[in-house]
Amino acid sequence: MAELISATPEWAALEAHAAKIKQTHLRDLFKDDPARAGRYQTTVGDLVIDYSRQQVTDETIELLLELAEKAGLQERIQATLNGEPVNTTENRAALHTALRLLPLDTSQDTSALPDPLAEAAQTALKERKRMAEFVQAVDKGVIRGSTDEEFKTLVNIGIGGSHLGPQMAYHALAHHHHTSLFRATFCANLDFEDWADARFAGHLESTLFVVTSKSFTTPETLANLAHVKEMINEDWENHYHIVAVTAAPEEAAKHGIPPEHIFNMWDWVGGRYSLASVAGLSLMLTIGVDAYEDMLAGMRSVDVHFQNVSPERNAAIIGGLLAVWNRNFMGYPTRAVLPYSHLLRYLPDYLQQLEMESNGKSVTLDGTPVDYETAPIVWGGTGTNSQHSFHQLLHQGTQIVPVDFICANDMPVFDDELAQQDALIANILAQAAALAFGSNDDSLALHRALHGNRPSSIISVYDLNPNTLGQLIALYEHQVLVQGAIWGINSFDQFGVEHGKHLADQILNRTLDTQLDPATKNSLEVIKRQRNRKRLFN
Ligand code: F6P
Repeated sequence: MAELISATPEWAALEAHAAKIKQTHLRDLFKDDPARAGRYQTTVGDLVIDYSRQQVTDETIELLLELAEKAGLQERIQATLNGEPVNTTENRAALHTALRLLPLDTSQDTSALPDPLAEAAQTALKERKRMAEFVQAVDKGVIRGSTDEEFKTLVNIGIGGSHLGPQMAYHALAHHHHTSLFRATFCANLDFEDWADARFAGHLESTLFVVTSKSFTTPETLANLAHVKEMINEDWENHYHIVAVTAAPEEAAKHGIPPEHIFNMWDWVGGRYSLASVAGLSLMLTIGVDAYEDMLAGMRSVDVHFQNVSPERNAAIIGGLLAVWNRNFMGYPTRAVLPYSHLLRYLPDYLQQLEMESNGKSVTLDGTPVDYETAPIVWGGTGTNSQHSFHQLLHQGTQIVPVDFICANDMPVFDDELAQQDALIANILAQAAALAFGSNDDSLALHRALHGNRPSSIISVYDLNPNTLGQLIALYEHQVLVQGAIWGINSFDQFGVEHGKHLADQILNRTLDTQLDPATKNSLEVIKRQRNRKRLFN
């Protein structure tokens, strides 16, 4: 078994260094080195990441880079991007970067690329061409519903990675909805209420349902698909009312979806990394082919940066290492993501799955239990709303929560919009300053005083558009990879969610009745008593 990263001298050096940093206030770090504002900054594409308010010095960064070298970060990056089977528990590659490697209008020669990457990129491109043709045909009204109406509304049925990415990006790009499908709804939950919202999204005859499920066995998605089939015209198989996006076409076929209505994804794409695959069909249907391609171009530019730029200037490497620093050495158990943008209101939900499903692991790649922390709890909300709910804890609570402020405005058109955007920016800067430096006024009563010394980064992009959104997504994806590589874990499986699914199934089907644990038995009894109707558990 390989040595745990925590047993290395590089780890010990960081622990010793953290003990010193914990005694140092951010105010003093800035007093001793005012130029850190501006120096502790990385740039990738249109994104500027200002990490000067993180509790780090030059020595911290040097030590983190040494840790990265010790952990074999560069090798892990290359292995992942080249398509080696880095998802060892499932013996698969994690080739989400191949999805966006080739632009739609390319005739790029891929023969110089490693085999798995070249093949995956060509396969992905071929399917994207199919997807683009479909989108254009729907947009132009060539493909219509069963009563010959043009599609006007889209309902995406899917959950987890088949939901959070498309939903987040659809809302983020609200000003880029240029196709005739002017409105989309995202239906995910097993709760009937979610379906109830979706079914009234639009006039049924002009609604296109995109059922997105990599496995096509996910109970939530199948339950919602069953509702769709109940509701729509009996003749639906002969029309494009329901299309499926899946890596398991044979499963989709079991639900009556004709082969020509199925778009393919592959087992080498993780659900939470799949927005650039056909799982992005709902998004492409609403923003159009060009805007979608532009998002992929944004992702690609960050992939190139990640693969080629030296670690000390590499935005994803530095971002990932800072996350490790805060989690393992400063001991902060959570991280908040606060987009000051209504358009990015679903970003925290999306990042929760990306980070916590990827790196919420307790064993290394060779199965050794870790003796250090892995993924923090990622949470967040939209500013300034969040200032009026949980920022009190951020400023004065007993837990220190590192924050990612996302400053991402759309291009303002009107003067009042501009004024409100100015106010949003002022609030981000005020919050970051208050967290870092506190109130700095000794005359204040203790209950009013803000001690400060609370870290944050500001990720800013002025114009939120498909390209810059793609950049932001890829940046976070790669930061996840970096953290997983340092922790020596597999960021691409998710076995933790399986057991609960089986248990729910067994409880529902009563196959576990006699073996139920006492707590479950009791809870079941309580709920049964509360429920007058005993439909399920009589
Ligand atoms: O339960 C977790 C999970 O497997 C996620 O990893 C995935 O994104 C989600 O379920 C949905 O899976 P599918 O796309 O196969 O329906």
